[in-house]
Amino acid sequence: MTEAATLTYQGKTYELPVIEGTEGEKGIDISRLRQTSGLITLDSGYANTGSCTSAITFMDGEKGILRYRGIPVEQLARHSSFRETAYLLVRGSLPTRKELNRFSVLLNDASLVHEDMKVFYQNFPKGSHPMGILSSMVNALRSFYPELQTMEEEIDITVTRLLSKVRTLAAMSYKMSRGHTVVYPRPDLSYCANFLNMMFDSPVKPYEIDEDLVEALNVFWILHADHEQNCSTSAVRMVGSGRVNLYAAISAGIAALWGPLHGGANQAVVEMLQDITASGKSMQHYIERAKDRQDPFRLMGFGHRVYKTYDPRAKIIKVMCDRVLDKLKISDPLLDMAKEMEEIALRDDYFIEHNLYPNVDFYSGIILRAIGIPTNMFTVMFAIGRLPGWIAQWKESMDDPQWKLCRPRQIYVGPAERDYTPVDQR
Ligand code: SDX
Repeated sequence: MTEAATLTYQGKTYELPVIEGTEGEKGIDISRLRQTSGLITLDSGYANTGSCTSAITFMDGEKGILRYRGIPVEQLARHSSFRETAYLLVRGSLPTRKELNRFSVLLNDASLVHEDMKVFYQNFPKGSHPMGILSSMVNALRSFYPELQTMEEEIDITVTRLLSKVRTLAAMSYKMSRGHTVVYPRPDLSYCANFLNMMFDSPVKPYEIDEDLVEALNVFWILHADHEQNCSTSAVRMVGSGRVNLYAAISAGIAALWGPLHGGANQAVVEMLQDITASGKSMQHYIERAKDRQDPFRLMGFGHRVYKTYDPRAKIIKVMCDRVLDKLKISDPLLDMAKEMEEIALRDDYFIEHNLYPNVDFYSGIILRAIGIPTNMFTVMFAIGRLPGWIAQWKESMDDPQWKLCRPRQIYVGPAERDYTPVDQR
């Protein structure tokens, strides 16, 4: 027996079905609301509105739970690899040894990009942001792989091609921005090790693969791999709903992630900590600024639309910061500053009352700095991690018979009808 909610309006009562998810979360299905009542709903920022049902990721913002296809992210971070987690997200279950080996072969075979793509990089102005470059280059892949347009190509090949090439595209933008030789992917290196080698190897100074950094990158990307209907994933679903090719939909997701309120926050956190250092002012001074509604300053890396407790990913990354820095025998003053900021904020009534805790971006920059990633590529690292999630969500929406062209309604509040006035009468 389906539960129902009733809406009473102007003396009429409307029954609206209530659907229940695996974990007991409930939603009112309003898909027939306008047809039956003439009403629409309004929910700026969609804080109360579900866009779809999904079997990919479960989050509980009050309890700080995150699971991919039912598996807790803590277990995946401890036992899985990013390559395996990407397979889990896209295909729905963990691969057998045979499936994982085939996936690895496909990733390797697809890891090169067309040599003509180098010319694109040469024409971006010096100092172009790597997120703008990545979004453009992923979109450009469509021109080199038109088969997808007919959807004849086996989806596995398309998905694996994108998962593999995104590393190469990102590393190429780094190398070419510095005028360095592009380093090609190697068949003998794992997914993460290959990326690090493409970023940091050089003909005159061979890069030594540090397994601690490879492990840290695996965990970093596992933690970023999916997060239900966040801003950039919603952009991928929205753009994909027009039945555009996958590359264009992913390119839109990269653009959405770039914003400092979303994935761009990891770069903004480090810049905030560096600004605080340069200002010579106290941490408390900035905490007070963040609390002042008249002051646009916000603590970057703090707060979340869904998590009203500590982001489970931030917990893991914070521990990883200490472990990686200890192993590398390096210290980073920004880590000490971040810990001091967290300690002060979490004791402050304003942050407690607003349920503001560190999110995934608060400590992630520390790990990326330890690996040697430049600050302006931090969000590119987020995008590479999120790619399997975007692809899984896109695929789920394409396979969903209920999924239609996304076209929200609005409530018009502009001028009532009026006539055109010739310019000399205005
Ligand atoms: C990501 O959605 C996802 O899942 C995203 C993500 C993913 O994996 O895809 O988790 C990745 O984007 C993490 C978030 C990264 N962004 C930041 O760290 C930027 C700083 N955070 C804030 O801008 C903010 O917390 C948001 C945008 C993340 C969420 O804000 P909401 O849900 O829109 O809430 P809000 O802006 O309406 O804030 C509610 C109150 C306000 O105070 P009042 O006006 O009610 O008095 O909380 C305050 C805000 O001023 N507030 C903050 C704050 N965040 C919210 N005050 C100070 N510092 C902050 N960081």
